[in-house]
Amino acid sequence: MNRPPATLIHDAARRLGAGDVVAFPTETVYGLGADARNEAAVRRIYALKGRPADHPLIVHVTGRDAAGQWAAEIPEAARVLMARFWPGPLTLVLPARDEVSHVVTGGQDSVALRAPHHPVAQALLRAFGGGLAAPSANPFGRVSPTEARHVRGYFPELTVLDGGPCRLGLESSLVSLIGERPRVLRPGALPLSALREALGSTCIETGAADASSPRVPGALPAHYAPATPLEVIPAARLARHAEGLLARGLRVAVLRRPCGPWQNPVLPPLPRFLMPAGARAYGRRLYARLREIDRFGFDRLLVEAPPADEDWWAVNDRLARAANRHLQEVSS
Ligand code: TXA
Ligand code: MG
Repeated sequence: MNRPPATLIHDAARRLGAGDVVAFPTETVYGLGADARNEAAVRRIYALKGRPADHPLIVHVTGRDAAGQWAAEIPEAARVLMARFWPGPLTLVLPARDEVSHVVTGGQDSVALRAPHHPVAQALLRAFGGGLAAPSANPFGRVSPTEARHVRGYFPELTVLDGGPCRLGLESSLVSLIGERPRVLRPGALPLSALREALGSTCIETGAADASSPRVPGALPAHYAPATPLEVIPAARLARHAEGLLARGLRVAVLRRPCGPWQNPVLPPLPRFLMPAGARAYGRRLYARLREIDRFGFDRLLVEAPPADEDWWAVNDRLARAANRHLQEVSS
């Protein structure tokens, strides 16, 4: 793994202290960080991303010890999850202390906290000595960056700490501890099975939110979109669908998973890109792959639908959002 020298990390921490925005690696995706206690600096993040002001940001901290500076209350289930998964790819939504800025929380009375595991993120947090508000380092609605050069492509003027390619490649799992039971607000890099196992008899909600759960304004149905219009199609229907598009003169490519020859539909001769067979490896590769495919300028990318089971929840969630972005065009 790349590791920027200590002087670069200290320089980045100094910039953060002066109110600048600095991009840094986490094990999920790269983040755009600013001092969470400096409203002008946090506003700069919204401006850079073109993100609506009511979409709250995650506050990144070194670990459990710092959580009390931001959360008014840390319920038992939150303690269990922090002990088990922090530092790591888990973000917890907790009641916010009064002094937490509404610019960070998007006007809600809850705050999202995450302790990233990546050593560069940890070193930066320690050198800075406070909480860093940080969304994924992409313009609003675009694919999250999993390498430093992706961030530089989006924001050439920014300081970017390079920590190598992200180990997990999908955003953190977002769990609310507000309301009766823990609720997954966004599936992510931490599998649901791990959350269930840690919480034991305390159930975890995975269905649609009710009135008591916090809003997740960043979880729009259309999000994480590549430039190439994308459709998710079951393997059995892929060939027929591709033929229909080819007949309309469209340039079509296919994103496939390896599967047994008995399941392999015979496809017309199309550019095809292969993805790993397992959910974790697929998730790690997804954003970088979509970015590579964008360079070819296809009219349509047909994604062979992954399995519908729980292990694939986060991947299917991101694919559905990426596809929604282009739904109007696709259905027209
Ligand atoms: O892996 C990640 O979580 C990355 C890295 C950089 O840490 N960050 C990330 O941040 O994905 P962002 O801003 O792209 O997504 C954060 C999500 C948004 O959907 C936002 O609405 C939600 O977290 N969120 C933040 N604060 C919240 C709150 N108080 N209540 C409910 N949802 C919240
Ligand atoms: Mg994001």
